[in-house]
Order: sequence, then C-alpha cells, then structure tokens
Amino acid sequence: MAEELLIAQSSKEEKYRVLLPQVKALCTGEPNLVANLANTASALKMTFDFFWIGFYLVENDELVLGPFQGPIACTRIAFGKGVCGSAWKQNETLVVPDVDAFPGHIACSSDSKSEIVVPIRKNGQIVAILDVDSAALNDFDQVDAIHLNELCEWLGTHCF
Ligand code: SME
Repeated sequence: MAEELLIAQSSKEEKYRVLLPQVKALCTGEPNLVANLANTASALKMTFDFFWIGFYLVENDELVLGPFQGPIACTRIAFGKGVCGSAWKQNETLVVPDVDAFPGHIACSSDSKSEIVVPIRKNGQIVAILDVDSAALNDFDQVDAIHLNELCEWLGTHCF
C-alpha cells in the first residue's frame, strides 16, 4: 500500500499540527518498535528537512543508536554524557541553541549547530530519547519543544 505524507506549507506550528496525527495513524496497529521509529524519523525529516533526526534507545547504562535519518552518528552514549545523556540524566527536554557552548556536547558532525533532545518515557521511566540536530544556530524553540514532547509522550505510551 502506498503511504503518502501530507506536509503543511505554512508555519512550523502548522507543520507539527498536520504531522502528528499522521505519525499516530502510521504507528497505530503496528507492534514493531523499529518500524514505528523508522517511519517517525522519516516523517519528521520529510516535514522539516532537519539535518539529523533519530532515536537513541536506553540499554542498561547507555543510549544505543536506533532508527534515524541523516549522516552516520555515534553508536553509544553514556548516561550523563553529551546533550543526549544529559537529557536522560536530568530527565528533561534540552534545547541547545549553540552546541559549541554546551559543555560535553558530542559532535557526531561538525555541521550540527543547534539541537533539541526529548526524553521518551514509559511508565515514568525514560526508555529512549529523540534527538534532532540543525545545521543552523538557534533553530529550536518552545514550539518544537511542545510538539516534540507531545509526540514523544505518545510514542512512549503507545509504541514501547
Ligand atoms: N550531539 C549529541 C550526539 C548525538 S548526535 O548529535 C546524532 C550529544 O551531544 O549527545
């Protein structure tokens, strides 16, 4: 069956509003986690053309690379390390306007300039994180944080 993604051509907020129900529809009824995260990463990439978008999955005391779109990335990130490990440790969404100003940032690519990392929780425990990188400085704000948090809350309760 052909799958088509509708992409709003207006504001960022409108793009999220159009995207989220489609991601939910794509994942609903599909029990395979990799398939659902892969399609979610693709839908975000297609909608926003982010430089890098992907998931890291909690495995013991590390984050391990999951489905993503973009250049190759580091495979494992320790608890508390980099932006991703910090968001996990601090149990909160991190918006980083300039990655070079973030102590301990892990540079998978020197082209990445700003970043947002959103925890994914199941039964209150972080099971994965969503990481989005931009090639532009200061590319993420509260609009991204609000909608990506909503997406991650849904993924955590429905797909994990
Ligand atoms: N910059 C991240 C590492 C992951 S890559 O950006 C894909 C970090 O500091 O945790």
